[in-house]
Amino acid sequence: CGIVGYVGSQPAHDVVLAGLKRLEYRGYDSAGIAVLADGALASVKKAGKLANLEKALVDRPLPAGSTGIGHTRWATHGGPTDGNAHPHLDNASRVAVVHNGIIENFAALRDELSERGHTLVSETDTEVVAHLLGEEFTGDLAEAMRRVCRRLEGAFTLVAVHADAPDVVVGARRNSPLVVGVGEGEAFLASDVAAFIAHTRSAIELGQDQVVELRPDAVVVTDFDGRPADVRSYHIDWDASAAEKGGYDYFMLKEIAEQPKAVADTLLGRIGAEGQLTLDELRIPAQVLRMVDKVVIVACGTAFHAGLIAKYAIEHWTRIPCEVELASEFRYRDPILDARSLVIAISQSGETMDTLMALRHAREQGATVLAICNTNGSTIPRESDAVLYTHAGPEVAVASTKAFLTQLVACYLVALYLGQVRGTKWGDEIAAVVRELGRIGEEVERVLETMEPVRELARSLAGQDTVLFLGRHVGYPVALEGALKLKELAYMHAEGFAAGELKHGPIALIEDGVPVVVVVPSPRGRSVLHDKIVSNIQEIRARGARTIVIAEEGDEAVVPYADHLVRVPATPTLLQPLVATVPLQVFACELATARGNEVDQPRNLAKSVTVE
Ligand code: G6P
Repeated sequence: CGIVGYVGSQPAHDVVLAGLKRLEYRGYDSAGIAVLADGALASVKKAGKLANLEKALVDRPLPAGSTGIGHTRWATHGGPTDGNAHPHLDNASRVAVVHNGIIENFAALRDELSERGHTLVSETDTEVVAHLLGEEFTGDLAEAMRRVCRRLEGAFTLVAVHADAPDVVVGARRNSPLVVGVGEGEAFLASDVAAFIAHTRSAIELGQDQVVELRPDAVVVTDFDGRPADVRSYHIDWDASAAEKGGYDYFMLKEIAEQPKAVADTLLGRIGAEGQLTLDELRIPAQVLRMVDKVVIVACGTAFHAGLIAKYAIEHWTRIPCEVELASEFRYRDPILDARSLVIAISQSGETMDTLMALRHAREQGATVLAICNTNGSTIPRESDAVLYTHAGPEVAVASTKAFLTQLVACYLVALYLGQVRGTKWGDEIAAVVRELGRIGEEVERVLETMEPVRELARSLAGQDTVLFLGRHVGYPVALEGALKLKELAYMHAEGFAAGELKHGPIALIEDGVPVVVVVPSPRGRSVLHDKIVSNIQEIRARGARTIVIAEEGDEAVVPYADHLVRVPATPTLLQPLVATVPLQVFACELATARGNEVDQPRNLAKSVTVE
């Protein structure tokens, strides 16, 4: 989501709206604005793109005021409707608040507020904050915010105004970013500097668990207990379009870099302290899940590759047979489905027509359909029996990166949850998986920190015609995804193979100097797989291949056969795609740049394909 706050002497309506326009890439399913004028709050909010809000503001102009807040939303709790759009107000319409993130204990807070006579009108987690702020406010909005924040669990960034606190905007930050812009007699708050770069280049970055009070001529930052906080001021030297991309040249690079946070957000609140899965949001009765005798995954493109990986986890952890099928092929072969089939439709956009038609067909056959989706309120989740949202945030680049990693996380969660509901014994293996998921964000971060040699290698291969990818087990779909990224971005001939299949045909493609990327499984655990792939590497190298080996840290057996070695952290075998895919994304992106291609919008492709 994108957040903007303003206090100063310009018309708040203009400053906030212009800021929202620059943040629209962060979310675009609804938007809203609130302005403080003459001791009262006025607010307008609308579902759909920002243009809808602008139209509504022409019909119903806001009073002139120079304090205001605004929001452009990417729905998490509650679909993208006018009512769920931000800002949210308390019953007396004295407080308005906008929010980015997820408040995990909102259900308990909502029940508590209802008992005290509050009426909550939206389906969002945000609204509880407006009511709590209204209760806590006794003249000092920053103090009220600190008290409320101490009661909130989860990840949140909040910005609020109060009708009885003229010339004050208050913000709070935990996890999601929030930046202060300091001008002459005015101050700004925004989820990124793009929102206020037209007004000031002097910024202050808020730290974790800090509250900021903005007045036209003063900015005060404290921690949640009111102690003064150390802040970092800096000068912004990006131009406006670089600012939108967080300083990255392309949205794709920004989205690759956001993956540690995206995977952590997707896990947030879904694994309990004892390692148990808390996916009550699925709302599929446990007896239905216990009856399931077959899982069928349908998806397209990158989401299909996430499905291929999910199959290994679902079958291994739950022992339920699982098929994965391209959504465009699925219904035309008259698949066998009934009330005991669970169909999982994976889609970033939630609008892919092939996937939508597949899930409609599945429901007609009586199957239960679960969507794994990144876009709240989109068609695929709306037409499914249940949905598990990935919390990757908006993905702008056409080639999918952070959505893929979060789809994997969601698939692992579903597989573990199925096992849990069906009474699988929680052995050491599952305990290790759950532990690893808890730190997977940091592992992905570590991979990102070591990508320079991969970029260098990519640049050196810019003149190649073909790159091949090999993998076994879950490394096979990773190889397919690596090849797809290269086709999409670098327009090169790229193919992924199961390493064992090589000898049955594809090995004929190997000649002197052909680059072959090999995804090597862990030598621990399934060591047979590892040994087999080490032999495969030797076979192709003997025929002249230039080997690019992705192997876990400490795997020494591959060293003699790797022309280029890319290390990834050791993980349980089934989770390796979460770390092994990252170098392949970086590789494809850099090759595309080196070949002069348009990274964010490759030729002939669309982000969401709404035709069959
Ligand atoms: C398009 C995109 C791909 C994407 C596929 C599925 O073809 O170019 O990057 O993987 O659609 O999209 P979805 O939104 O359903 O995940």
